[in-house]
Amino acid sequence: MTKLRLAILISGRGSNMEALVKATQKTAFPAETVLVMSNRSDAAGLEYAATHGIENIAVPHREFAHDREAFERAMHTHLQRSNVDIIALAGFMRILTPWFVRQWDGKLINIHPSLLPKYPGLNTHQRALDAGDEQAGCSVHWVNEGVDTGEIIDQRRVSIVKGDTAETLAARVLQSEHDLYPKALEKACYSLLKS
Ligand code: GRF
Repeated sequence: MTKLRLAILISGRGSNMEALVKATQKTAFPAETVLVMSNRSDAAGLEYAATHGIENIAVPHREFAHDREAFERAMHTHLQRSNVDIIALAGFMRILTPWFVRQWDGKLINIHPSLLPKYPGLNTHQRALDAGDEQAGCSVHWVNEGVDTGEIIDQRRVSIVKGDTAETLAARVLQSEHDLYPKALEKACYSLLKS
């Protein structure tokens, strides 16, 4: 079985990356994780990748001052060198330029902790609580040039319960992210393999 070569981009803890790595280690999964890359060298997730024998690279955005495209060109070089077919953003906290998004058009997916199109951007859980929503959740989507606006691949709903804070809700949504992301990635891989 031909497997797509997956790169996962992170900025911190990397719990979604871990869920993806575990899924891609299964024989029948249509992708293998070949690279974990972070814009922060202190990202805890890099350590996880290292201990699991996965190539891991830090490309600190701060070294590129305010030249976002130069930072992305450095990442792009690593992605090409590793012959990457598909990229999963997993808690990657940099907004990508149209240049990068065009390079990886149709090969770039992201997880976002809200029921898109509701609450793109930051502070999603507090915004859902402030709005009095009964449900929150998470979405995996193709990345386009907007912020969290690409076509949705799949979503999970999570009930908001009495007494929820942004922290308790975030923790429950995170559990559902770990379930959703590998399944949505699998779906994305099959659609890419068909195209
Ligand atoms: C997740 O909630 C993700 O949806 C959001 O940032 C968080 C990253 O968590 N974009 P982790 O690094 O995957 O643990």
